[in-house]
Amino acid sequence: MLTEYSKYLEYKKGELCLEGVQLKALAEEFGTPLYVYSASHIRDRLVAYKEAFPGALICYAVKANFNPHIIALAKDEGAGADIVSGGELYASLKAGVEPSKIVYAGVGKTAKELEYAISSDILMFNVESFMELDILNEIAGRLGKRVRVAIRVNPDVDPKTHPYISTGMKKSKFGVDIKTAKKEYEYAGKLKNLKVVGIHCHIGSQILDVSPYIEAAQKVVEFYHELVKLGFEIEYIDLGGGLGIKYKPEQSNPEPSDLAEAIIPVIKDVKAKLILEPGRSVVGNAGILLTQVQFLKDKGHKHFVIVDAGMNDLVRPAMYEAYHHIVPLDRRERPYIKTDVVGPVCETGDFLALDREMPAVERGDYLAVLSTGAYGFAMSSHYNLRPRACEVMVEAGSYKVIRERESYQEILRL
Ligand code: LLP
Repeated sequence: MLTEYSKYLEYKKGELCLEGVQLKALAEEFGTPLYVYSASHIRDRLVAYKEAFPGALICYAVKANFNPHIIALAKDEGAGADIVSGGELYASLKAGVEPSKIVYAGVGKTAKELEYAISSDILMFNVESFMELDILNEIAGRLGKRVRVAIRVNPDVDPKTHPYISTGMKKSKFGVDIKTAKKEYEYAGKLKNLKVVGIHCHIGSQILDVSPYIEAAQKVVEFYHELVKLGFEIEYIDLGGGLGIKYKPEQSNPEPSDLAEAIIPVIKDVKAKLILEPGRSVVGNAGILLTQVQFLKDKGHKHFVIVDAGMNDLVRPAMYEAYHHIVPLDRRERPYIKTDVVGPVCETGDFLALDREMPAVERGDYLAVLSTGAYGFAMSSHYNLRPRACEVMVEAGSYKVIRERESYQEILRL
């Protein structure tokens, strides 16, 4: 059932529609590859977060999809922004996000980026090392500012997700273990241009089972009490993002309320304000990638459907062996075949699906690659000098282009 991915995604008179807009018509008008997003899906997810976590600050993780229209939509629902670069800060400010709702994480912030964020008066820097504390303190002093910091702690919890997107374990480059964090807090407390205000933690991404969150929250709360005893005034507990979404037909789409049920009981006695940084669970299933079948190729033992979207448009299958469900835009009766769905890029890793049982499609047919609103366009590239896709937003039967397709001239101009 496609409505389990998004209630706005369904076949009407045999044609796949998103929020009532026929996707084939969009593919024909704007060409493919084409990303299409449902504004209502994004809104609903943010409302669900607000309702599940009253009083919390929801900072949309811009890295999932940095389109300014999407950031602005999140802002209109009261969300702030979780950023990891100067570029994401620029996009968030341009989209109208209040600096007092912006948190900044990342292991390798440059001096230029720190200066930009300090001057912009953002809410909090989620600091990842001793050296970063020193540099932040130095730049803040030079700019005559006192900046609010949290230290990113690594609770050493296994989020049971793909190793490339597990971030809270000992061996990961992110954050510091709680023992080291204590020393960092004491150190930061002595730096006169820093004000320690929070604890930050993010254990990983695409987490479908909420139990690792409970474990992480318990460790963070224990540490919170320790810091309070040491005299720190901790105003914010930031538990990061990471809630997963349905990719495979047999998976479910966890709700923010499932997450709330898990962590609110753990943090209920904490006086600090909760911050969450959801990305994928807000935009992931709001987006689909439309692509057109170019050729079919049968090598006897293997069948290939060759489409016009490649790993430069959607790198997740190549990078994480990620599964994305793929369906034809029209629901004609078709036999099923076992096939690879591959792109035009000159790499064996350029596939969207391997050995997939799916309806036998023909040259010219359009396909929808589901669950591509997060880490789809945001991770796309020009590899093979392929212009990046066009992006369209649909809402209640109407649509607008939110990013035009790039031209060769535009790419080479720079
Ligand atoms: N906060 C921090 C500090 C993060 O590092 C991330 C994601 C998030 C929030 C948002 O996590 P989300 O709610 O979206 O799971 N490219 C990978 C995902 C990388 C996630 C990186 N950090 C993928 O395509 O699966």
